[in-house]
Amino acid sequence: MAEKIKLGVYGAGRGEYLVASAELNGFELTAICDYSEPLLRRAKRKYADRKIAFYSDYDDFLSHDFDAVIVANYATEHADAAIKAMASGRHVMSECMAMFTMAEGVRLVEAVERYGKVYFFAENYPFMRQNLEMARLYQSGDLGRFLYGEGEYIHPSTVDQRVFLVSGPKHWRSWLPVTYYCTHSMGPVMLITGTTPVQVNGLIVPHDFDDAGNGPGSIKIDDCMSILMCTMDNGALAKIMPCAKLKDHGNRCRICCNKGSMEWGQGHDGILRVHREPFDCPEGTARNSYYHPTWPEGFEIAGSQGHGGADYFTTHYFAQAIREGGKPKIDVYMATAMTAIGIQGYKSALQGGAPMEVPDFRKQEVRERYRHDEWNPDPARHRKGYPLSSILGKIEISEESLALFTAKRKAYEEGL
Ligand SMILES: NC(=O)c1ccc[n+]([C@@H]2O[C@H](COP(=O)([O-])OP(=O)(O)OC[C@H]3O[C@@H](n4cnc5c(N)ncnc54)[C@H](O)[C@@H]3O)[C@@H](O)[C@H]2O)c1
Repeated sequence: MAEKIKLGVYGAGRGEYLVASAELNGFELTAICDYSEPLLRRAKRKYADRKIAFYSDYDDFLSHDFDAVIVANYATEHADAAIKAMASGRHVMSECMAMFTMAEGVRLVEAVERYGKVYFFAENYPFMRQNLEMARLYQSGDLGRFLYGEGEYIHPSTVDQRVFLVSGPKHWRSWLPVTYYCTHSMGPVMLITGTTPVQVNGLIVPHDFDDAGNGPGSIKIDDCMSILMCTMDNGALAKIMPCAKLKDHGNRCRICCNKGSMEWGQGHDGILRVHREPFDCPEGTARNSYYHPTWPEGFEIAGSQGHGGADYFTTHYFAQAIREGGKPKIDVYMATAMTAIGIQGYKSALQGGAPMEVPDFRKQEVRERYRHDEWNPDPARHRKGYPLSSILGKIEISEESLALFTAKRKAYEEGL
């Protein structure tokens, strides 16, 4: 039995949730850090019979004895936390997004190169059963060359559901522009086809003032939907819908190739459809096959974990990279490209869909163009030339909506 990998978890929400998968994959939780008193209280209760250390300060936490960190603090603050952890000698698994500004992307790549620790990007959607099966089919070569793909992630929510996710109007989920949370949609396309985006054109449906669910929960963004039309490095196009609030909860992936296509998504109960034209069908092969993919052999245990089992694989591949070395399954270059479409896509949308580069940070000369690009939509850092959260400008939340949300959030925190 391999020695356990000692684990610290930064973020007692999603981060703590990943501990179960991590422990199935040979990690041993030693410490949790979160400055939210209710969340820390909940974690302390859960691990009362174990010797776990609890911290509210990240620097203090990093002085604890562990080998690896799950970075699951605010989505807009992962890069600096990951860099600090690697500088302190720890391997890092970072939640989505990899970075919040293009300059952070450069710093992150350079930190991975400098410190030589494992950086694994915990984008989990490529590891849903259907996406794993599509990757297997694509990589067998039977469907030919990738031409066109679609990736969607749609998650509408009521104010009562947002109370769990949003702490208030300053929380990133209240103000992060709709294109940014894009890796759940782009990740599967990249991992199935092995391609990388090189250009993005972004378009956004503006904030829906008629949607009664939009105000409460302090939503200040164009959260209906956006499209990032991405050109991939093999010339294929991928139509990516970052986290949208359309009334059609679920996710979708479609991959069209020059000898056939495959897709799965909302409304089909997880069924994968693989299609070939009659003239492309090898003898004895059905034009359409519909089936529920099973887990790859040896991975049946994944089904017990979150996001349809996909959560199991992130800590699996993180542990594998730590123990065996080599390129992590989702490395820092993939992570920064996957995340950059959301940042560059917002720049594009603010310019009517103009094409924007998705840089390859492997190249030194490309890094130089972005080294000082701190352009970002954080209201707390707003200055001339930086964007607001909506393409419409500033969206005000009514006092009434805010009061309703605040009361519900308070009740939720008291119950933790
Ligand atoms: N891959 C997935 O399916 C998935 C699902 C949910 C969340 N996430 C990601 O996980 C991350 C965490 O999300 P979440 O849902 O837990 O919500 P969240 O972003 O509110 O959680 C962040 C936690 O970090 C803590 N924190 C932030 N800054 C801190 C600091 N300086 N010191 C101490 N604690 C600090 C906060 O108190 C909070 O509990 C986000 O990046 C989100 O995108 C991914």
